Amino acid sequence: MAAYDKLVAEAAADYQGYWGRLARELVSWKKPFTKVLNDSDAPFFKWFEDGTLNVSYNCLDRNVERGLGDKTAIIFEADDGKVTTASYRQLLAQTCRLANGLRSLGVKKGDRVVIYISMSIEGVAAMQACARIGATHSVVFGGFSAQSLRDRIADTGAVAVITADQQVRGGKQLPLKAIVDEALALGGCESVRHVLVAKRTGADVGFQAGRDVWLNELLAGQADTCEPEWVEAEHPLFLLYTSGSTGKPKGVQHASGGYLLHAALTTKWTFDLKDDDIFWCTADIGWVTGHSYITYGPLALGGTEIVFEGVPTYPDAGRFWQMIQKHKVSVFYTAPTAIRSLIKAAEGNEAVHPKKYDLSSLRILGSVGEPINPAAWEWYHQHIGGGRCPIVDTFWQTETGGHMITPLPGATPLVPGSCTLPFPGIQAAIVDETGKDVPNGQGGILVVKQPWPSMIRTIWGDPERFKKSYYPEDFKGKYYLAGDGAIRDEKTGYFTITGRIDDVLNVSGHRMGTMEIESALVSHTELVAEAAVVGRPDDTTGEAICAFVVLKRPRPTGEEAKKIAAELRNWVGKEIGPIAKPKDIRFGDNLPKTRSGKIMRRLLRSIAKGEAITQDTSTLENPAILEQLAQTN
Ligand code: PRX
Repeated sequence: MAAYDKLVAEAAADYQGYWGRLARELVSWKKPFTKVLNDSDAPFFKWFEDGTLNVSYNCLDRNVERGLGDKTAIIFEADDGKVTTASYRQLLAQTCRLANGLRSLGVKKGDRVVIYISMSIEGVAAMQACARIGATHSVVFGGFSAQSLRDRIADTGAVAVITADQQVRGGKQLPLKAIVDEALALGGCESVRHVLVAKRTGADVGFQAGRDVWLNELLAGQADTCEPEWVEAEHPLFLLYTSGSTGKPKGVQHASGGYLLHAALTTKWTFDLKDDDIFWCTADIGWVTGHSYITYGPLALGGTEIVFEGVPTYPDAGRFWQMIQKHKVSVFYTAPTAIRSLIKAAEGNEAVHPKKYDLSSLRILGSVGEPINPAAWEWYHQHIGGGRCPIVDTFWQTETGGHMITPLPGATPLVPGSCTLPFPGIQAAIVDETGKDVPNGQGGILVVKQPWPSMIRTIWGDPERFKKSYYPEDFKGKYYLAGDGAIRDEKTGYFTITGRIDDVLNVSGHRMGTMEIESALVSHTELVAEAAVVGRPDDTTGEAICAFVVLKRPRPTGEEAKKIAAELRNWVGKEIGPIAKPKDIRFGDNLPKTRSGKIMRRLLRSIAKGEAITQDTSTLENPAILEQLAQTN
């Protein structure tokens, strides 16, 4: 902790000097920067702006030049358990061939490329190849529907899509290319000139000559060296879509230099990554965790990591523990939702209990994506970490690029359920609605008082929305607003995140906007007149999606209600993706509204939880509706 305090003091004394020093130490620059931060156009901050670099050079070539060419970069385990590895030299060659292939198709610096592929070495190489030629990638999680994929392709104006014939998860073959075809057929994606298709299963898939290209054929003719495109530090490395409280998902834009710095630095300090570690982050590359702690952070440091194609419950719920044993994983990073579901599985079945496996290789455990409840924390600590491994509960967001509040393992004294203290250099604080600091022990709004290198730069194509969402006038446009509530412990100053303060839900660590799900429901124009979506606590998934729906026909009951609920669930699955399917759907003749017509969501939240309504309902236009909604199942 003395070292931690020293770093915090260094950042406090000379903020720019601190980040400048780290950026020189961790990132290799083609042209060194002379200026650390440019805040003249706040909140559009620029970091290291006159420096140039290439992110893929930093993650691959640099390691080969350091003598790590034969070191394993990726240990890939397929859904069926088959293992393939790639050394740094091999991953560099594969990335270069793909980068050359993209260039041969006319893809160049500044173009956007959408990647819709499952967990694979190809997926990581595709991201690295885009970075190599200065193309901005936007990875779309393989669980999103054709409609969601279309929206993202259209918003980015991508010139190419990289995908595979199929994906394999939990023993099942699921479509990828067919969904790309469907997405492109929906229209609005005229910018797409090419679809690159990797062969995963060899399944028969549609092929449009001229547009579609088999990846293996494209790569066969390419050289395995490729001169990197040296880009300015602020050049957009990627766009990643995430949900906000209003409107459609927003394309969070990240820069190259600052992002790479924080991805590398947090991997180094939060995970204490050492040369002989086997690091495993179980996230998907479709989420920010997969970007920072699979594709970029561990590779920038020359680490060895696991990339896993499958799911934690196949062939059984011992899969994670069996893989930790098999690959001698030393640093393991997963989400509370996975831990909670594996606790349930282990309690129900001795055969998949972690005690059956040798987990002695582990030295550090991590948690991300949602608050970890103390019971899950204790189980993780005891049964997975053998009571000896520190747990780093890392709070951060798609927008922050890397860890913001987290313990540093072995240093920070741990308290279950608290993400403890800000990462050195991050000025996290808790304020009230007017932007005034609140004392410890009193909850408030989580903000970051100073810009940091890996922060979101803008929302793609919508700078106004960026300003409004993250630097609202309420705080005089000065502080970054995270969208979460938090409280600091009176004695230790430790942070505990109390959850989102906007209309964003966190279901199994996946961020969903209630408005997005409502829009999906009401787009079923034949059936749905009106819909309101709220969250309710759920033991396994953290939060569950609960939809209140008014149909264009009389309120259904019994079997009919079940049938329509199933139809609407599938509809949402098709509109957004299976992760957005409401767990509960309740039908009403109406929704609780104020006399001015505003839906009273806090009442719906109480009903969804099964709580008695204690709030003031005097402004309600139609109080009788509450009883009806409470009765429906
Ligand atoms: O509410 C916080 C929660 O997840 C949100 C960010 O979601 P997303 O952008 O999808 O990124 C998830 C992976 C970084 C936050 O606003 N969250 C994330 N980590 C934690 C957390 N809540 C509590 N504790 C955490 N460690």
